[in-house]
Amino acid sequence: MLSTQHNETITRVGPGTPMGEVLRRYWIPVLLDWELPAPDCDPIRLKILGESLVAFKDTSGRIGILADACPHRRVSLYFGRNEENGLRCVYHGWKFDVEGKCLDMPSEPATSNFKDKVRTPAYPTVEAGNIIWAYFGPKEKIPPAPNFEWTTVPDTHRGVSKVLQESNWLQAVEGGIDTSHSSFLHNNDLSDKTLLRSRSTAPIVEVELTDYGYAYSSQRLLPEDETKYVRTYHYVMPFHQLRGNQVRNSGGYYMPKSAGHCWVPIDDETTMVFNWTYTWGDEPLNEADRALRGTGNEMYADIDPADGFRSRRNRDNDWMLDREMQRTKNFTGIVGVNTQDRALQVTMGAIADRSLEKLGTTDRAIIAARKLLLQATATVADGGDPPGSRDEYYGIRAIDRVMAIDEPWQSLKPEMYPVGAH
Ligand code: FES
Ligand SMILES: [Fe+2]
Repeated sequence: MLSTQHNETITRVGPGTPMGEVLRRYWIPVLLDWELPAPDCDPIRLKILGESLVAFKDTSGRIGILADACPHRRVSLYFGRNEENGLRCVYHGWKFDVEGKCLDMPSEPATSNFKDKVRTPAYPTVEAGNIIWAYFGPKEKIPPAPNFEWTTVPDTHRGVSKVLQESNWLQAVEGGIDTSHSSFLHNNDLSDKTLLRSRSTAPIVEVELTDYGYAYSSQRLLPEDETKYVRTYHYVMPFHQLRGNQVRNSGGYYMPKSAGHCWVPIDDETTMVFNWTYTWGDEPLNEADRALRGTGNEMYADIDPADGFRSRRNRDNDWMLDREMQRTKNFTGIVGVNTQDRALQVTMGAIADRSLEKLGTTDRAIIAARKLLLQATATVADGGDPPGSRDEYYGIRAIDRVMAIDEPWQSLKPEMYPVGAH
């Protein structure tokens, strides 16, 4: 459990809040690249960390993220005209470039130099892994560009999507670093007794702190085979999960593959979940894997971009809970692994009340993440750099294996840090 005060500290994200200041020290995924398909395309309205913004691609192909409120009289720049390397407010015609400079102020006399004095908040962006990332923190603290293995492989080797989650970001992160629920929530075939996570439902969770957050293993012992199923994860501050995704239920090896999420706070009570999967092998992902099929994260099938990237199964229809399916087929009666995650995490309330919890041994990784986040609020308040805000996480990889029961999981480390980092 967590005190009410600490719960407030690590969940709230607005400008000036302790965690809001921490989150502003990282590159943050804000859009999928195809949302701004061409120069001078339609601007997009978005909200990140409680701030209303507008995104546009200018005539030269540069991406701008500006405060949505025009600095003149505060109307929405989303309604603006995207023209000739700038976004022009349709109220009085003031025009801004991707850096927030006022290029034109036709409502003032030609002799006025007022336009040279006006700027609007603008945030740097970078593209990586089919995602547009932005940075909202102090200029002098800007981190090196995001560089996960999944952002660097060819497009053919990666799939990404995003989906709205109507809850605070932290309970979503905590779901992602809670390996034990997968034996239950994600048991999608009640009749199959060979499923590794059904055979062993109480994983041993071990956490090793790193410079970027932590690595952790979950070990599911399978004594009748003298083996164990080991799944490793990386938690990269503040909201990245990387998980091994190679081993299929039979215990046979599948392609070299990993998956994960970034849980980006829209505001205190809403989150945009970026989903990714990739292979580091020579073979590209197949079409189903690239589309994230069967995960609840497939664009258009599970997610409706025209409805703010909301899941078609959502809280208004109880995620299409099917009681007959729950009795006979799967544990939840809900279709889609990550739909199951979102459904249950949203039932915790807009911001989960952690002062009422009873945590067990499998919650170790969650407790560790909360400690790191709390420490980070103090570090940043003291002028320091929080973990994961430099290049500490470059070169990490999450893997999973069926291995001999007495072999230490740490023997997987060379594969978890393939380029020798850490
Ligand atoms: S409010 Fe935007 S130009 Fe006047
Ligand atoms: Fe899950």
